Amino acid sequence: STWANLGLQDSASPLMEQLIFFHDHALLILIMITVLVGYLMFMLFFNSYINRFLLHGQLIEMIWTILPAIILLFIAMPSLRLLYLLDEINEPSVTLKSIGHQWYWSYEYSDFNDIEFDSYMIPTNELANDGFRLLDVDNRVILPMNSQIRILVTAADVIHSWTIPALGVKVDGTPGRLNQTNFFINRPGLFYGQCSEICGANHSFMPIVIESVPVNSFIKWISKNVNS
Ligand code: CUA
Repeated sequence: STWANLGLQDSASPLMEQLIFFHDHALLILIMITVLVGYLMFMLFFNSYINRFLLHGQLIEMIWTILPAIILLFIAMPSLRLLYLLDEINEPSVTLKSIGHQWYWSYEYSDFNDIEFDSYMIPTNELANDGFRLLDVDNRVILPMNSQIRILVTAADVIHSWTIPALGVKVDGTPGRLNQTNFFINRPGLFYGQCSEICGANHSFMPIVIESVPVNSFIKWISKNVNS
């Protein structure tokens, strides 16, 4: 994200791309309805049409009941498609477990001999000059790009939410439950996220940073950490 970006962030995954397409589609329909209704309401002030004998208008009421229902279908169908698309798990090659705590995230790579670590926000007074305030963490989540990744989310105390806008991921971490979703990062880079369930005093200060790297680099990182 950059300054004055009022829309969605650029997508870094196919699912987020679809979410953006759906957002634009719904917004376009919304604009058309708003303009039409706005025009009609505005024009009502400037005419003097009166019909003293008007008692009913079956036809027009049929039209203005059924037409909005059809328009709603044009939103409901793609929305349903997206809902099922987001829930699909496609043979993940890496599984990451993410546990919400008050107030930090901890991560486990259970596939690789139990790599696990905590990820805390870097406080403003310890931030590097090129760091992002309230957004950078001490230990990043390293993940391979161009791979299906499964994420398991849970929490140790209260409800948290593991949310990465650029990837289109938003999963609640609930104590006593394991939630699952998956994503595919299609480019390298850093992707920032924040907790999005109001989880207590420091809710705003448990960000998430994902470092998306080529698969080779990911394997190197894994093998380095498994031995230590
Ligand atoms: Cu954890 Cu809000």
